[in-house]
Amino acid sequence: MAFEGAAATGTAGLAMAIAVRHTSNRVMQPTFASPSDTSPVEMSDLLSVPEFEEHARRCMPAMAYEFLASGAADENTLRWNREAFDRIRLRPRVLQDVTNVDTSVSLFGRTHELPIILAPIAYHRALHPDGELATAQGAAASGTTWVVSTATTTTLEDIAGVATGPLWFQLYVQPDPEITKDLIQRAESAGCEALCLTVDTPVQGARDRQARSRFALPAGVTTPYMTQLASGRPLNDTRRGFVVTWNDVEWLRSIARVPLLLKGILTAEDAERAVAAGVDGIIVSNHGARNLDTLPATIDALPEVVQHIGGRMPVLVDGGIRRGTDIVKAIALGADAVMIGRPYCYGLAVGGAAGVRRVVEILRTELQLAMQLMGRGSLREIDSAALWSPPAR
Ligand SMILES: Cc1cc2nc3c(=O)[nH]c(=O)nc-3n(C[C@H](O)[C@H](O)[C@H](O)COP(=O)(O)O)c2cc1C
Repeated sequence: MAFEGAAATGTAGLAMAIAVRHTSNRVMQPTFASPSDTSPVEMSDLLSVPEFEEHARRCMPAMAYEFLASGAADENTLRWNREAFDRIRLRPRVLQDVTNVDTSVSLFGRTHELPIILAPIAYHRALHPDGELATAQGAAASGTTWVVSTATTTTLEDIAGVATGPLWFQLYVQPDPEITKDLIQRAESAGCEALCLTVDTPVQGARDRQARSRFALPAGVTTPYMTQLASGRPLNDTRRGFVVTWNDVEWLRSIARVPLLLKGILTAEDAERAVAAGVDGIIVSNHGARNLDTLPATIDALPEVVQHIGGRMPVLVDGGIRRGTDIVKAIALGADAVMIGRPYCYGLAVGGAAGVRRVVEILRTELQLAMQLMGRGSLREIDSAALWSPPAR
């Protein structure tokens, strides 16, 4: 199994001369090595996820921004993940009482205020000095669940120490089964309520843009659970060290005490295999377009999986969600909830915990507004009738 970053570790790398000052909602930009814009910004001045991305591009060191924003190879899938959402048009109903809209959804026995989960992203301390601790605080403040990556740069225990909101854990199976088992138990002891097994990364994709930027972890930043690194194999070694198969899924299901989701399913065949393996949920994902270029946009892959699963388990989707209207479209196409990756990390980079919180707040407001303008009072009322057919070409 290969991992997130084609990164060198321990190099001077970002050489982050970081000085972050927080004063209530006002966050001074971290003074990284080479940001082009270090002027202070009020989180409330940023009005949309695209604005957060643009601000992040200007205030982050180039290599950290490239790590976060880039995709694989020619970035066709990265582009399609967005374009596919833009092609879908909405079909509203009028004169409905939408004074209050209910955005909540129930997943695995917990009611979530929003159908938004924060996706697992590697190396938060390369994005902000407070790293995963800030993300945990921002996620809790925004009322969302966050999926901690195996490639976290902070231990699960430290994260659990500050997290007051729900956590899930994303698992990369480790070469040693005992270590994998230990990792699962650690995650469960830290309170993680579900496991997301990432199944789309037997090797890492051709992340040319990231490699070109010479992305490296900041000096002194480590990844406690990446045993590949501890054993001396470089992070950018994409050779197959070992093989993860459906047999491992069955084994993991037998040892995990919490719900097990597979992250990275795109086809009916694999959805069926997932059902047979006894998993509890599916995440339709192309890994944020970072692995195999020219895979379809996830929103285009979603209907096949939803149709095949037929309500037997929750289906989530991620990839390219940047607006409240994107969330409406995903729900209309049968997703129970969505995950967002880069958006909250732009928030983290720009404003730490306050930035994560603000990004979710923006999406919450946009989702509520879209539902009101669509005449839909709850997520249950959003189905295929909410989409204009056929989609624009
Ligand atoms: C910089 C970066 C790091 C990522 N790290 C992980 C990871 O450690 N584990 C994982 O399963 N997925 C990882 N992903 C994929 C995300 O979980 C998610 O599928 C993707 O970001 C969703 O697309 P979006 O960024 O357009 O919202 C990563 C994605 C990015 C952009």
